[in-house]
Amino acid sequence: MTNFSAFDILVIGSGAAGLTLALHLPEHLNIGLLSKGPLTLANTYYAQGGVAAVLDQEDSTEVHIQDTLNAGAGLCHEHSVRQIIENGPKAVSWLAAMGVNFTPATSTTQQTIGSDTHKQPYHLTREGGHSHRRVLHVADATGLAISTTLTNKILAKPNINLLEEHIAIDLITTHSINKTQAQNLPTRCLGAYVLDKKTQRIHTIAAQCTILACGGASKAYLYTSNPDVATGDGIAMAWRAGCRVMNLEFNQFHPTCLYHPQSPCFLLTEALRGEGGYLRLPNGERFMYAFDERAELAPRDIVARAIDHEMKRLGINCVYLDISHKSSEFIQTTFPNIYQRLLNLGFNLSQDLIPVVPAAHYTCGGIKTTLTGRTDIKNLYAIGETACTGLHGANRMASNSLLECLVQGMQAAQEIINILPQTPSVKALPQWDESQVTDSDEDVVITHNWNELRRFMWDYVGIVRTNKRLQRAKHRIDLLQTEIQEYYSNYKISANLIELRNLVMVSDLIIRCAMQRKESRGLHYTLDYPSTLNTAEDSILTHT
Ligand code: FAD
Ligand code: SIN
Repeated sequence: MTNFSAFDILVIGSGAAGLTLALHLPEHLNIGLLSKGPLTLANTYYAQGGVAAVLDQEDSTEVHIQDTLNAGAGLCHEHSVRQIIENGPKAVSWLAAMGVNFTPATSTTQQTIGSDTHKQPYHLTREGGHSHRRVLHVADATGLAISTTLTNKILAKPNINLLEEHIAIDLITTHSINKTQAQNLPTRCLGAYVLDKKTQRIHTIAAQCTILACGGASKAYLYTSNPDVATGDGIAMAWRAGCRVMNLEFNQFHPTCLYHPQSPCFLLTEALRGEGGYLRLPNGERFMYAFDERAELAPRDIVARAIDHEMKRLGINCVYLDISHKSSEFIQTTFPNIYQRLLNLGFNLSQDLIPVVPAAHYTCGGIKTTLTGRTDIKNLYAIGETACTGLHGANRMASNSLLECLVQGMQAAQEIINILPQTPSVKALPQWDESQVTDSDEDVVITHNWNELRRFMWDYVGIVRTNKRLQRAKHRIDLLQTEIQEYYSNYKISANLIELRNLVMVSDLIIRCAMQRKESRGLHYTLDYPSTLNTAEDSILTHT
């Protein structure tokens, strides 16, 4: 690859959202597909529970919509919820047609709901907030099946140019290359600057349409279920380019991540509780009924907060997940990967209490988009966890995220196909300018700032917040941003520096959204405003 390339479409991200979109574009288009690590290194690959969709005849779209609205604590955009949920069956049929082998209803895990269970072919599990079984899954490794199946389809497409180990640095827009452009002209996205991590060369990539499918920002927290890629790059790039972002204070903490030094934050799927698992204190007592009548199957914000409360009240390091009352055969066939992983660490899931703690898991807010992924910038789209469509409101319901990636990926592809004939191609762009920077001799600054950021975000912007904690965090983030910006301007960039710069920026946006909200709602809980206001409003950050 030379230093300049041009595609019709540039997709930044190879998770469920990016892969779905790329596979829905016609084969005459020249597509660039970027991932900053190997293609499968994405949150999608690690998804366990499954994809929520209404397939059972005793379930209904209206009930799925209502459950989602309830979990979202009054902040969901009903139009988005309706559109995405109505498209659920279509999305899972497409996955099945691609070759994803969802666990069938006829396996040993055969479901036992209602008389119509055999009218649809899949086993449906249950998770928090869902009042019905409606989660399709591939045992306990759904993401791995989706990711590898879709990746194999992508590999067979000659029109898709895969750029693994390439990290996008920044978007190129009409405003970024011509600062004097009249302010009233709409900004248009023209492509991106991209660092090839292997050669350390920076490429200029032009595209008629650019899609951010970069995932979330849960690496902002010290403890997270997410792989290292979740550094909020898409949100930061879009914000720098001038897009609005919204609802970033709603950081979801998954209630049950493994508490173990050799495997910190390994996720123990909510389906374990959906299939009957209990949460217990060290003395064996179940405690969730004291917090919510749905007990272990209350929405995640409630369960994570309850665990946090009990850990602080009793001064304990973890609580325990217990599914030992189910048969060993059921556990081993339903959760084979988790069973084996725990066994390797010395726990027998069918006999032992498993130590668990909450960890940062999902970014509910993001770049403000329409359902088709349109952003504030022309020819720039954002889809999946990077985007905020209003589906999740103040708290995402389990297994609605992969669903959103699929539906938004499909709908964005359709809109892009429609607008492409009227979209001018991009002929030439300025190269990245490295003339003013030198090699860094102090990479320790980056490591130190990574650690500091993630520690204070955990301590001050975590499950329970206060004005004072947020102010402390804001003070520190301002110092970090100044330091990193100076570093960024003077030294050659590396993937580590790009990610740190993005994560600090997104953390700043998280804190600003949190400071703006003078109430507790869903995942945002503050001791200074413990009640929920009557009217629910999005926190929207703009540049003006
Ligand atoms: P991701 O899958 O995270 O992909 C992001 C992509 O962007 C990666 O390819 C990455 O390399 C690329 N990228 C990022 N920045 C750059 C850059 N600067 N340059 C180039 N490339 C870049 N949701 C469910 O609905 N059901 C579940 O069962 C479920 N289980 C989960 C279990 C775990 C352990 C985790 C962590 C999450 C789970 N989720 C689940 C959430 C869900 O997996 C994610 O929200 C979803 O996969 C996000 O998909 P995505 O395509 O938006 O992003
Ligand atoms: C899980 O399997 O518990 C994760 C599901 C999700 O995040 O939607």
